[in-house]
Amino acid sequence: MEQARPIGVFDSGLGGLTVARAVRAALPAEHLVYLGDTARVPYGTRSAHTVIRYARSCAAHLQRRGAKLLVVACNTVSAVALDMLRVELDIPVLGVIQPGARAGVEATRSQRLGVIATRGTVASGAYVRATAALDPRVEVFAREAPLFVPLAEEGWVEGPVPEAVARRYLAPFAQEGVDALVLGCTHYPLLRPVIEAVSAELLGPGTRVVDGAEATAAALAALLEDRAMGVEGSERGGMELLVTDLPDRFGEVASRFLGEDVSGLEVEQVDL
Ligand code: DGL
Repeated sequence: MEQARPIGVFDSGLGGLTVARAVRAALPAEHLVYLGDTARVPYGTRSAHTVIRYARSCAAHLQRRGAKLLVVACNTVSAVALDMLRVELDIPVLGVIQPGARAGVEATRSQRLGVIATRGTVASGAYVRATAALDPRVEVFAREAPLFVPLAEEGWVEGPVPEAVARRYLAPFAQEGVDALVLGCTHYPLLRPVIEAVSAELLGPGTRVVDGAEATAAALAALLEDRAMGVEGSERGGMELLVTDLPDRFGEVASRFLGEDVSGLEVEQVDL
């Protein structure tokens, strides 16, 4: 039964679990196989050519595991490799940029939208293109915020260090009249309280901070419904965790990203 096959979700590392979390909340009966390429993280500082190569190997592995559909939870991969994956794979592939841009377009009232993301995502221009396709009146200001990735990985998500980093990254948006900010990277939602507080202080109290995770889960639910690919029944679906390196460390921090206790779950190390 095709419907009973798992949904494959992959990211360069742990951060994509924030997307897996939204998918599990929206579609609790679906079985997920999550692959974090912890041996090669970060992707955001690498060339598009290298990210495409990595993305191909992650997608191929999840297909071998029987995935009925792929969710590319990584913004950097979604930015540079989504079209290639869609052409090469014979299962549906969903990325996070279009849903993130949609959440941003819906949030802005000034039609001036800020995006923070990795260097690779910003350089690709993917958020600018996705936003223009949704509403050409919305102007996008996209900037890199690379230090948020290691801060999230280390669990430094509150206090003076992330606050100082957020001030430095967000200050330039103040000159641009931005009233909504898209968290265009899997890791940034973990720093949401700090980013929201600093945005309110620097960009104005009404600034909306959005991310693509929930919008991606909603797009996934619609796709499953449209193509009659959703699992039958209401029993809670399972979760498999795969990594390419350091499975013990992954298990320790996965619960924080996923928002559910997965400490009892075995994390499998795989070679791509
Ligand atoms: N997963 C990446 C993204 O969403 C962030 C971490 C990395 O640079 O690999 O862009």
